[in-house]
Amino acid sequence: MRFEWNDSYSVHDKDIDKHHQRLFEILNRLSISLDDKNTKDTVYHIIDDLFDYATYHFAYEEEIMEQVRYPQLEAHKKAHLLFTSKLKEVANDYLVNYESLESFEIYEMLVQWLKVHILDMDQTLTDYLKDKGGSL
Ligand SMILES: [Fe+2]
Ligand SMILES: [Fe+2]
Repeated sequence: MRFEWNDSYSVHDKDIDKHHQRLFEILNRLSISLDDKNTKDTVYHIIDDLFDYATYHFAYEEEIMEQVRYPQLEAHKKAHLLFTSKLKEVANDYLVNYESLESFEIYEMLVQWLKVHILDMDQTLTDYLKDKGGSL
């Protein structure tokens, strides 16, 4: 069950949309790799890629929020931290217990989090930036 990007996930910012598409691409790679029962190292490497790219993307959004003194900065940052902490947990669990890992659950959980975050917090952020009339 791979995720297909469509316009309903756009936050109407080219760069942020590109970042989000890249995150879903990595998640799809993870799903395929788990389904194909790739080696532990391969799967772990993809989880690591996802962690790195999420960290990069979250820092990008947080810098924008700081620049405009976004009122919901702290809550948004907390949500980002929750995701990266969860990812770390998933990576560690995978190393310890990779054979019994439920690939469906992990993939679904990460995709679901990202969808909700994009449609809620990220959309609210880009709406705010547009209302302020500033460009990103
Ligand atoms: Fe965000
Ligand atoms: Fe985002």
